[in-house]
Amino acid sequence: MNPQTTRARDAHAPRARRIVVGVSGSIAAYKAPSIIRLLRAAGHEVRTVPTAAALRFIGAPALAAVTGAPVQSGVFDDAAAVAHVQMGEWAELVLVAPASADLLARAAAGRADDLLTATLLTTTAPVVMAPAMHTQMWNHPATRHNVDTLRRRGVTIIDPDAGPLTGSGYGAGRLPEPEQIVARALAALDAARDTAAAAAGAPGDLAGRHVVVSAGGTREPLDPVRYLGNRSSGRQGCAIATAAAARGARVTVVSAHAEPGVLAELPPQVDIVPVTTAMELRDAVRAAAADADAVVMAAAVADFRPAEVADTKLKKHSLRASGGTGEPVRQAAPVIPLVENPDILAGLVTDPPRQDGEHTLVVGFAAETGDADGDVLAHGAAKARRKGADLLAVNAVGTDQGFGDVPNAVVVLDAGGTEVARAQGTKQEVAEALVELIAARLNSRRPSV
Ligand code: C5P
Repeated sequence: MNPQTTRARDAHAPRARRIVVGVSGSIAAYKAPSIIRLLRAAGHEVRTVPTAAALRFIGAPALAAVTGAPVQSGVFDDAAAVAHVQMGEWAELVLVAPASADLLARAAAGRADDLLTATLLTTTAPVVMAPAMHTQMWNHPATRHNVDTLRRRGVTIIDPDAGPLTGSGYGAGRLPEPEQIVARALAALDAARDTAAAAAGAPGDLAGRHVVVSAGGTREPLDPVRYLGNRSSGRQGCAIATAAAARGARVTVVSAHAEPGVLAELPPQVDIVPVTTAMELRDAVRAAAADADAVVMAAAVADFRPAEVADTKLKKHSLRASGGTGEPVRQAAPVIPLVENPDILAGLVTDPPRQDGEHTLVVGFAAETGDADGDVLAHGAAKARRKGADLLAVNAVGTDQGFGDVPNAVVVLDAGGTEVARAQGTKQEVAEALVELIAARLNSRRPSV
């Protein structure tokens, strides 16, 4: 096995944590035992705090059995034990899953009318909430406001999935699968630990470095209301930004429509430059890279853009009468000529924005699938040589190399197409492995300041 990979994995060997799982009154409470079971199976110690409403959906004995400890709901259940303070102090992480609209409202208001909300008020541990409710409730301005308030206070909110809801509804509001919730919650715990280490005075091995990360997906307008775009969430780029910031780097994220919830989880010291099109992204990345030690191009950049952007909304093809015959003639659907966007990544290599003689480490991403012309790595290696980036993270999902069941998996190649490392796991874990490689390369060149 590649030694760099081993180091990245060892750094994430799980350590037993003390985790409070709050369960509130949503039908999704039935998933709480799976979440608790996964946390315990990973070696963590769990205490479960259901609300009274949660206990209408799932029984205390079932929760106690999977937790391996009694469960409490009210602040007066065992007043002598001062549980409302102890539970918050004991926790290294508080995970509320599912978080109902009512729980979000009570937490945002700072209420302490049961053991779970009291725990949220007393804990200094990172808090992760996974909302689940009907779409109307999730979209209601009151809930949006409460979610914003909680995010501003540093709570990690795991956005609900879209899908069929209880009853006849369909939309955003479903609790994500327990595996995803556990992965995100443990990643939030790791990020909080890294931030705390940095705040405690450990400067981090990227202190004094400037890292620029592009994230999200560009949008190329066709007219004032339509665009050509892609579905990139920006999660991988923002995870890289967070990992670099945790090691002390000054970080600029050039965000092409990264999802607001993803941006909200960036550490507050990260600068965010919003852009829309590939050309805007190129200009913003190159401006930020003028003093950058590393640029990571994680954004999905449109390869083409419409040659012209219409000033007014393009009309759907219409029927109009032909001269004299009275027969309607169908106009052809409009053809939209495209022009190629510049390859920003390749441009950073051939025309470096940094003018002071210092080398900027350039890192790209490439999603590849094998085909008749070659396998994933052959295509990745050809792209690495073509683009010339110092490192190219080839996303090998979809191959038969064991990467299919994980949220993300990359093989990292150097500019010559030679494999230098592999990483797989959550996007945070992949991000940390990549930042480890970046830090190693930067710090081998000259000492960090
Ligand atoms: O060629 P391909 O799109 O697979 O390359 C992906 C990599 O190149 C990513 O790092 C992406 O950010 C970057 N890219 C770019 N400019 C483009 C297209 C992609 O910098 N026009």
